[in-house]
Order: sequence, then C-alpha cells, then structure tokens
Amino acid sequence: MNNILKKFRRLGYSLVPTPIHKLENLSKFFGANIYCKRDDMTGFAFGGNKTRKLDYLIAEAISQKADTLVCVGANQSNFCRIASAFGAASGLNVELVLGGKKPAVNTGNLMLDYLFGAKIKHVDSEEWDVWENEAIKLSEELRKKGKKVYWMPIGGSTTTGALGYVECMSEIMDFSRKNKIHFDGIVHPTGSGGTQSGLVVGKKLFGYDGKIIGMAVTKNTRQLTEEVITLSRETAHMLDTEIEDNTVIVDDNYIGKGYGAHTRSAEDAIKLFARKEGILLDYVYSGKAASGMLDYVRKKHFPKHSNILFVHTGGNIELFK
Ligand SMILES: Cc1ncc(COP(=O)(O)O)c(C=O)c1O
Repeated sequence: MNNILKKFRRLGYSLVPTPIHKLENLSKFFGANIYCKRDDMTGFAFGGNKTRKLDYLIAEAISQKADTLVCVGANQSNFCRIASAFGAASGLNVELVLGGKKPAVNTGNLMLDYLFGAKIKHVDSEEWDVWENEAIKLSEELRKKGKKVYWMPIGGSTTTGALGYVECMSEIMDFSRKNKIHFDGIVHPTGSGGTQSGLVVGKKLFGYDGKIIGMAVTKNTRQLTEEVITLSRETAHMLDTEIEDNTVIVDDNYIGKGYGAHTRSAEDAIKLFARKEGILLDYVYSGKAASGMLDYVRKKHFPKHSNILFVHTGGNIELFK
C-alpha cells in the first residue's frame, strides 16, 4: 500500500495489486497498444471495483462500532452484492434498499445478495433520490430500534470509498515505473463517480501526466463532471492536496438511452473482448466504457503509438441475470 494511504484503516479483502497486461489481439486488430487493469479480478465475492472501496468503507464502519450496514442501489447492484459479502465476512447485518420493480425471479447479483444473508427492501421507482431517501429513512428506523447503522450512498462513492481508487492509481504508477510503460490515457466507466474521483486524486498525488477519461454510464457529462470535481476535491482535502477542475474528463457519448439501456456499440465491444481476448465485460458498465475506448482508438483520438489503459471494473455477473 502507498505510504500516503497508511493512515486510513483498510480491511484488505481485495486481492490487490491486480494485474495489468497487454490485450495483444485487440491491439493487433486496432493497430494500437491497449492494456487492461484487471480490477474484475479483485477476487472477493466475484470482485470488481467495489471491493477496493469497501475495504476502506467497512473498516470505517467497524471503527465506528457499527453493527448494521445500510446500502442502496439498483436490483442488479454490484456494490450491494459485494457489500453483502463484506457484511457477512465481518459479522455485520446488511440491509439493502434496491430500486426498480421487484423481479419475479432473483437472478445474478440479487440472487447472491440473498445468499450472503442480506435483508432486502424493494422500492418500485427508477429515481435514485427516491432510493436514497428510503435508505436514509430505513437507517433512522433501525437507529430508533437501537442498531448502530453505517449507511453508504449509491456506489459507496464517499471520500472514504474513493480512497480505494487512489490506491489503484498508485498501483498503475508502480507498474509504469517497473515496466517502463507510460500510459497516455486511462479509460474506465464512471457511474457514481467514486472510481474516477480516486483516480483523479491519485493522478495529482503521484504525478501522472496522462488523461483519465471516465465514460459516463449513468448521467450526462455536465452532471457527472460536477459530481466528480466535488468528490475529488473533498477526497484530495483528506490527503492534503488540491484538484484543478480541468483534470476531470467525462464523456457521455456512449451511454445510449441511459443507465442500464443496452447499446449496439457496447454489445460489439463485449463480443470483441470475449472473442479476441476471452475477457467478459457487461452491458451496463464495462461494455459501454470499452465501446468508448475502442471508438477513440478508431477515430485516432489518442496520438500514434500511444499506450492506452482500460480499467476493467468488473460487473460481469450482469451477464447471468
Ligand atoms: C462494474 C462497475 N463498473 C463501474 C462502476 C462505476 O463506478 P463508480 O460508481 O465508482 O463511478 C460501477 C458502479 O456501480 C460498477 O458496478
């Protein structure tokens, strides 16, 4: 772990550092140098970007003597799946507020939430604010019953959660140093903004001079840029540094009709990754981000001979829903 992060408690359930390797076949196919940071392989409860955040979040919950975690997300939330597993392994009760129609059959992440022993409340709405208000209400009810609640917003995107991606950025810099490979661009999906905020703060702390491009999968460029700037600034403050607004790059061109809506270009990217590299992406997050990255390569947005790093944030349980 990087020394800068040592003052923060961390559980250590994630299997990190995750590997970085070149995607040889896709690189040949596109005439580019495309690498992948395998955060789909963080291990715990099928892995993904959320284990890094939860290592810090649940350590904080335990230090606050919480006995109950309250989490919120969509029915197929990757965050809620992994939070349920962290709760199970740490002896904490987990209460989930899941938004969207209650499905007739529990599949994918939802099936796993039950397997990990989480208690689930469904909220029949597509509005994130409605879900979060329900979770805040539930937290209050549980507190009145004497529970010590640690509540987390959508995606665990708080300053504490973002520390997980400061750490990821330090791993990327270590890799670059050891292998003498400089990444001109880092591309990843951005949803609730915690992943990007952590990377942006890490960029500042560790002196990364390339671009970090968040492919938006939830909200538009303006909204997400504002949210990432705010969270990056707050996270930077905890680490005694500052963030300039122009370091945050969000692109919403690959979101299609919105969060969770399938796009043709994500389907193509999913097939390309599967058939050329044997790597599984998903339709909601990594598939859309990969489609954006491949489009940038096709359109030569990166200079010739650039090294591009795709951060695979996981989420492939969604393929089984
Ligand atoms: C698989 C996957 N990738 C990317 C993201 C986006 O990360 P963030 O919410 O930190 O922006 C999520 C968030 O839910 C996710 O589940």
